[in-house]
Amino acid sequence: MKILVIGGGGREHALVWKIAQSPLVTKIYCAPGNPGTAALAENLPIAVDQLDKLLAFAYENGIDLTVVGPEQPLSLGIVDLFESHGLKVFGPSQKAAFIEGSKAFSKDLMQKYNVPTAAYGVFTDLVEAEAFINRTGAPIVVKADGLAAGKGVIIAQTCEEAVTAVRDMLSGNAFGSAGSRVVIEEFLTGEEASFLVITDGKNIIPLASAQDHKAIFDGDLGPNTGGMGAYSPAPVVTPDIHEKAMQQVIRPTVEGMAMEGRPYRGVLYAGLMVKGGEVKTLEFNARFGDPECQPLLMRMKSDIVPVLCAVADGDLSAVGIEWHDKAAVCVVMAAEGYPGDYRKGDVIAGLDRAAGLDDLYVFHAGTAEKEGACVTNGGRVLGVTALGTTVKDAIASAYQGVSQITWPGVQYRSDIGKKALERTQ
Ligand code: AMP
Ligand code: GLY
Repeated sequence: MKILVIGGGGREHALVWKIAQSPLVTKIYCAPGNPGTAALAENLPIAVDQLDKLLAFAYENGIDLTVVGPEQPLSLGIVDLFESHGLKVFGPSQKAAFIEGSKAFSKDLMQKYNVPTAAYGVFTDLVEAEAFINRTGAPIVVKADGLAAGKGVIIAQTCEEAVTAVRDMLSGNAFGSAGSRVVIEEFLTGEEASFLVITDGKNIIPLASAQDHKAIFDGDLGPNTGGMGAYSPAPVVTPDIHEKAMQQVIRPTVEGMAMEGRPYRGVLYAGLMVKGGEVKTLEFNARFGDPECQPLLMRMKSDIVPVLCAVADGDLSAVGIEWHDKAAVCVVMAAEGYPGDYRKGDVIAGLDRAAGLDDLYVFHAGTAEKEGACVTNGGRVLGVTALGTTVKDAIASAYQGVSQITWPGVQYRSDIGKKALERTQ
């Protein structure tokens, strides 16, 4: 089989790495890919939003399956476009990806199908939003309705801060048209978990549990990022919480989407807040999480390709997924300044040393090749991911890998996986 992976981050490097292990696969292309994927696939100079170019490439080169990593091409309708030309593709349709593309839609869906979530309001008017904020009180959460590259969520500590955030969003200054409508919601406390499933719209296979680390600094301090590290399994997802996530969140959502005429096929990612043995849904994503994908795929024992094909064909009933007992931990190494403006073009040292370590893989995200050297080229640069018999072992191995690698201004969290240790000790 010839497979095309769309995207160029750590998630896509992990997908290419996993797909490359399948005996069913003869050739992998990645658009646009990164220097990490270049070692396993042929990178194509096509951006993720150039749908016509991607379609032409897949059509002319007889691609058997296209796997879409990021949300943007999904929201632009890449799956509909490919399918209308008879091409097999893994991911939700444009109408189904709306569950991530519009937070207002997603909240209304949750309310309609009784999926537990924070109390909220949807606003396009500043005066009404201000009244809601003052009634609810702070802390309070303000979210841009549309896609904002993971940055459209403001946790406001005061009502004034919330009103300012709403004003910036509604005026179009903060996130352009993505902020022309806002969701304002109750602030939830608890421990977060990333609960991902693969579904054909009817059959649902939960993936192993995972936990992300959204904040830039240790102890969950500082602004939110795309994710500074992740591990799997996540002990916060006890068997009881798993059951609740499936019965209260995932099933009603998959059934609800079908009832809304938006049948969901692909990875459905629920961001959960767990507290006092109950779950609430923070958000849905229409794709694998990044960096959650990296530890999840390192733990996946089964060949992923038959699973992806079964979803693309619309029938998952005959496949299952097995997992390694080992734990996996991914530590993201980021550029100085991230998640704000960050440095680029610094030479990364030590990749060869890290490559020599067992049960460890360095997934590339924001890297580039320059004059024969690998240099930083994005906010999140690398995802150093290790397997271990326990989470504790995997943490130690991942940080051993991290200690081999450096560049000027490198930053990473030193407490990835700590919450898992606190729960298991
Ligand atoms: P979202 O993109 O909606 O998941 O929001 C990004 C991050 O903001 C989440 O992972 C949480 O850390 C935080 N967050 C979002 N909504 C809430 C909420 N209602 N209460 C507390 N934290 C939240
Ligand atoms: N790691 C969070 C996300 O992929 O949205």
